Amino acid sequence: MSVNVTSTSPVFGSFRLPPSVKGAPRFRMAVRSNVVSVNAPILTKLQQECATPLPVLRHVAGAMTADMRAGLAVDGGSDLKMILSYVDSLPTGNERGLFYALDLGGTNFRVLRVQLGGNEERVQATEFEQVSIPQELMFGTSEELFDFIASGLAKFAEKEGGIFHLPHGRQRETGFTFSFPVKQTSIDSGILIKWTKGFAVSGTAGKDVVACLNEAMQRQRLDMRVSALVNDAVATLAGARYWDDDVTLAVILGTGTNACYVERVDAIPKLQGHKSSSGKTIINTEWGAFSKGLPLTMFDRDMDAASINPGEQIFEKTISGMYLGEIVRRVLLKMAEAGGLFGKAVPEKLSMPFVLRTPDICAMQQDDSEDLQAVESILYDVAGVESNLNARKIVTEVCDTIVKRGSRLAGAGIVGILQKMEEDSKGVIFGKRTVVAMDGGLYENYPHYRTYLQEAVNELLGTEISKNIVIEHTKDGSGIGAALLASANSKYDHDY
Ligand code: BGC
Repeated sequence: MSVNVTSTSPVFGSFRLPPSVKGAPRFRMAVRSNVVSVNAPILTKLQQECATPLPVLRHVAGAMTADMRAGLAVDGGSDLKMILSYVDSLPTGNERGLFYALDLGGTNFRVLRVQLGGNEERVQATEFEQVSIPQELMFGTSEELFDFIASGLAKFAEKEGGIFHLPHGRQRETGFTFSFPVKQTSIDSGILIKWTKGFAVSGTAGKDVVACLNEAMQRQRLDMRVSALVNDAVATLAGARYWDDDVTLAVILGTGTNACYVERVDAIPKLQGHKSSSGKTIINTEWGAFSKGLPLTMFDRDMDAASINPGEQIFEKTISGMYLGEIVRRVLLKMAEAGGLFGKAVPEKLSMPFVLRTPDICAMQQDDSEDLQAVESILYDVAGVESNLNARKIVTEVCDTIVKRGSRLAGAGIVGILQKMEEDSKGVIFGKRTVVAMDGGLYENYPHYRTYLQEAVNELLGTEISKNIVIEHTKDGSGIGAALLASANSKYDHDY
């Protein structure tokens, strides 16, 4: 049995397609015959600068492999932090009991409880709620943010009942998925290095985020113990491995991006004295910070300069859901200003940062109507833009260019990690079925992105090897994964 309870709060910033385009306003625009000729050179230049032919992909994959090694050799050795997760063993299926998971990673947070029934019954029931995080909390104080989260968690815990059963005298335990760069200090503690994905909460960086949550839970009089602090990529890997032993790598492609994988402890020079009974551990690469060899444009550089973390998270800013729509907006604005793409005047709304979101460009790219109706109505609804057919065609080309670059580079990143693992243990990755567990709204909801990513992986690996590499979407794996890791690190004995 599985029970899902969702809250009615809107999912802020989620990757949903806009409502139907039926009834969209129809415009009779005077066709500016020079729309195409003036903008063609801008488009051509963009396409050239964003191109990702095989040599570029190879270079990026190679640089990713090299950066991984440099980051494993010494702390600060490369853009990639290669963070030790303290998760040394992955779920086996034997996990039993009631566990919670709390997931803070983007514009909403999720709470979940799961009743685990061991190898026979596996996941007996799950319940979850999702609450959107008010925008002002993303720029507020640490205390405000953690109070808000702890209060949501406390309300959720109060509703526990039915099949969900906590043995008498036991404290509730939760996994805490915190999807920002954290320097783990143990399985249940870690220091926030910096916020990403548009968060600018004061007073958290440099602090132990579990302590912040514990203090907030105390203020809410919620008696719950955080038994595992994990990144969302790590939780996804654990959740996917619960069902499939061939999973060795997990990737998040959503608002932000990241990847983690199973590494041999003896292949991590910077780790001295870390004991792992399995001889393995999960490394959180924090690959969003990667930056080598990426084909970037002035639009990327300008967006980065205007961001709250200039010079940081360059890979993330090129491939992830938070930024793709914004890059497209910047290109369109330039075309409107320099090439009169939308008529003589530059539509005012188009100057607003982040007004065009990645779900909008996804919907536009999926428009296969002859007169590009959906493109027309989205441009109008979202950016206040009136467009003729020529302009709309150019807009879809721009979307395609930016999305193709991002997805193919993501594919190169995946191959970079696989290559590293294969180099260290010949045949272990390419010589057998290897599963890449994938989660995140961008991958889940953007068909073109998925296709281009897979194409890049195939091009890089060739037909034979790519048959062995399965990229599998593991929806909500991270929630269950965090609960499973909470169970594995429970303070109680496992035989109840
Ligand atoms: C964070 C990662 C996280 C990723 C996906 C990035 O911005 O730095 O820790 O895993 O987003 O949520």
